[in-house]
Amino acid sequence: MRIALDKCIVRSWQHTDAESMAKHANNRKIWLNLRDAFPSPYNLEDAEKFIAIALAKIPETFFCIEVDAQAVGSVGYSLGSDVERISAEIGYWLSEDYWGRGIMTETLKAVTRYAITTHDLTRVYATPYEWNKASCRVLEKAGYHLEGRLRKSVLKNGVIADKFLYAFIIDDE
Ligand SMILES: CC(C)(COP(=O)(O)OP(=O)(O)OC[C@H]1O[C@@H](n2cnc3c(N)ncnc32)[C@H](O)[C@@H]1OP(=O)(O)O)[C@@H](O)C(=O)NCCC(=O)NCCS
Repeated sequence: MRIALDKCIVRSWQHTDAESMAKHANNRKIWLNLRDAFPSPYNLEDAEKFIAIALAKIPETFFCIEVDAQAVGSVGYSLGSDVERISAEIGYWLSEDYWGRGIMTETLKAVTRYAITTHDLTRVYATPYEWNKASCRVLEKAGYHLEGRLRKSVLKNGVIADKFLYAFIIDDE
């Protein structure tokens, strides 16, 4: 998979991305906004494991964000099953070196479209934690709508917190 955008390329992972991925993923500010399955600290072995899993997945649903010929972020989605097979949950992170340039907004627009058309979905959703204003803003800019606040639904960094539910629905387009 390869989608060339204005500010970045979204593409399949390569084993050679591991070093760059580990360097950029090793950031507590990124970890704070993701599930605990995302390691902290993040080392080379973590990146190699992740890339191997991403490459083994059929269909492929985890992709690399490339800027300046380096792997600097990740975007991926989990497809729902059974009656939720028309939905997917999307997740993403970007190296702090590249924040605030509109990279994730264009990535999210493109990957949401890709997921919907590739898997015949009606809905793609994301659940940013209550403090994650940048992610909420990116979701809004990419055409997602706030559907709710899931109160006291996560335990992150020792804090019980709310998360928001944002969704992109095909009929809203
Ligand atoms: C969230 C994240 C992906 C955003 O990526 P990005 O490429 O910097 O996003 P963009 O540049 O496309 O847009 C960021 C928007 O958030 C806004 N923003 C950033 N910090 C903000 C804050 N503290 N309060 C309000 N808005 C904020 C920016 O101003 C910008 O909006 P604008 O274009 O209207 O000015 C990135 O910060 C990141 O990887 N964070 C850590 C991991 C994470 O949160 N993942 C998502 C989990 S749900």
